Amino acid sequence: MKQTKGKEPFYITTPIYYVNAKPHIGHAYTTIAADVAFRFHEMKGEDSFFLTGTDEHGDKIVEAAQKENVAPKAYVDRISNLFRDLWPQLNIKYSQFIRTTDPGHINIVTSILQKIYDSGDIYFAEYEGLYCVGCERFYQERELVDGKCPDHDKAPELIRESNYFFKMSKYQNWLIEYIQDNPDFIRPEGYRNEVLSFLKEPLEDLCISRPKSRLEWGITLPFDENYVTYVWFDALINYISALDYPEGELFKTYWPRVQHIVAKDILKPHGIYWPIMLKSAGINPYKNLNVHGFWNMGKSKMSKSIGNVADPILLKDTYGADAFRFFLMRDMVFGLDSNFSEDAVIQRINSDLANDLGNLFSRVVTLANKYFEGVIPQPDQETEKENDLSLAEKATSSVDEFEKNMAIFAFHKGLISVWEFINHMNKFIDQTAPWALAKDPSLSKKLETVIYNLLEGLRVVSGLIYPVMPETARKMQEGLGLNPDDLFYDLDLLRKWHVLKPGNKVMPAIILFPRIEKKPAPKEEQTQKKTSSDIKPEISIEDFAKIDLRVGTVLSAEKVKNSKKLLKVEVDIGEKRTVVAGISESYSPEELVGKQVVVVANLKPAKLMGVESRGMLLAAFIEKGLTLASFYKKVEPGTPLK
Ligand code: ME8
Ligand code: MG
Repeated sequence: MKQTKGKEPFYITTPIYYVNAKPHIGHAYTTIAADVAFRFHEMKGEDSFFLTGTDEHGDKIVEAAQKENVAPKAYVDRISNLFRDLWPQLNIKYSQFIRTTDPGHINIVTSILQKIYDSGDIYFAEYEGLYCVGCERFYQERELVDGKCPDHDKAPELIRESNYFFKMSKYQNWLIEYIQDNPDFIRPEGYRNEVLSFLKEPLEDLCISRPKSRLEWGITLPFDENYVTYVWFDALINYISALDYPEGELFKTYWPRVQHIVAKDILKPHGIYWPIMLKSAGINPYKNLNVHGFWNMGKSKMSKSIGNVADPILLKDTYGADAFRFFLMRDMVFGLDSNFSEDAVIQRINSDLANDLGNLFSRVVTLANKYFEGVIPQPDQETEKENDLSLAEKATSSVDEFEKNMAIFAFHKGLISVWEFINHMNKFIDQTAPWALAKDPSLSKKLETVIYNLLEGLRVVSGLIYPVMPETARKMQEGLGLNPDDLFYDLDLLRKWHVLKPGNKVMPAIILFPRIEKKPAPKEEQTQKKTSSDIKPEISIEDFAKIDLRVGTVLSAEKVKNSKKLLKVEVDIGEKRTVVAGISESYSPEELVGKQVVVVANLKPAKLMGVESRGMLLAAFIEKGLTLASFYKKVEPGTPLK
């Protein structure tokens, strides 16, 4: 733990994601938002801690594992790793990754259950209710839309059984008062009102157990071994088990400063169950719950159960992690829904990144190189004042606006204030016209002052974009001759002016964001599920006959170095062939050997990650990766397919 500047610590959490499918941009958005908040508090010099992880117990996980014919543990290990490995690729630097199958977590859940049980807030009763497996919870009639769960558009099942219940009703009035006394406890306000309006009706007690006869994959109740605990009761506790509640130093330091981020789908567990669980266990409530809206695709919510999801890896490979982060943070108004489309991504990148920011950077650095051979000129403070050439005031007001908005999770507004400054600088160049100043030697002081101010403005911009685009911030700082490891994103330093040292050198200009002319193809071989928009044109039988499809028997397979997706596969197709296939996330090299596959034998050779591939394996893209085309009966290798 680093103690910085004696300021208050900061603790940010994301939901822990279910491992019943791989991550999509909804998860990426929340986790990037948390990373942005984390980095922003780093800028303030606060000792910050960032928790994310995976939620691995419950019915739906067991269902997903069964579909794949693997044991729950093997299944959750695999999908949890997909999440854990994705985040660094999106420039996300979490402090800890928690899994609800971690023994430490299980112990803490067990001890909290016992504590609440001992205090008399848990009782045993028979219950009949409508249960939605998708949501892992019972529904009340009034919450259903046309008799269906509004999130999953599926009728819940009627279930009758004896179970343990948590006395939420006992704390209903306490919670109403707490929310009223702490107006920003749940924010933005619309969600606070939603919770308050829900609390107008009597709160039902929460069923917190599942009989092991129905579900074994969970944490056993310490007071009845025939039951496991309800997945939400287990999952919510991650926020404190990760901090080693109750005695851990982490818990003492960070819990009082905790900020949760969730989307509106899980408002109720976080806005109602969780504060009441904390109250009952004698733990202070969280500081704020920050709720955002949904990314939609077309008209419906992007959801793994619907299958209309955009793949964050593909988007990152195509546009770059920073540009992707920027799009997500800039296009969504935190709290409201947003529509996702790749056209919107391209437009955002071209206008805000290539045009506004990228142009400004290369324009200014080019001018410094052209007129001063890259040496940062000395500003003349008198000329600055007389001619109103200082950008300092405008910079400071942008920093203030930025800080105000970032602190309340209004990331889009934070970015808007940075772009106001960027646009101001672009205008400043046009107005001061350095190319004209350069023609008149008597105006040299003015030229020096203008260029210095522009470079100094870029320094501030590079710091302000740091939380959203850390990689670009570094590039800009290196371009300005700064050492990015010197914390040039420190907010106090961004409020100062005349920080760049005249006499130091800037680098030659670079293009930060090339313009995107049309939808580019992703860099690595596309292995992701195709959408329905991939409908292909009709072809003739002659065209089809041009494809040399053959039966192949896999002789050997190995992972391609430095690639997550690619396997180098040797196949016998009547001759020996090397094919590089993006199947590593779905098949291990060992299980492939001896398998019979379909090979496109006359595909133009291509180099993938440095390995020459001659041919392609056919596969179907399914929800969790892909499955190779194969044969019912053993076939002679090399047999053509017609
Ligand atoms: O609910 N738009 O996990 P989950 C925006 N395990 N955000 C989205 C989104 C979308 N279309 N889809 C998902 C669970 N998200 C529980 C949480 S916490 C103690 C337990 C994001 O895998 C958003 O953050 O269903 C949402 O709240 C979360 O993923 C739900 O993830
Ligand atoms: Mg969900």
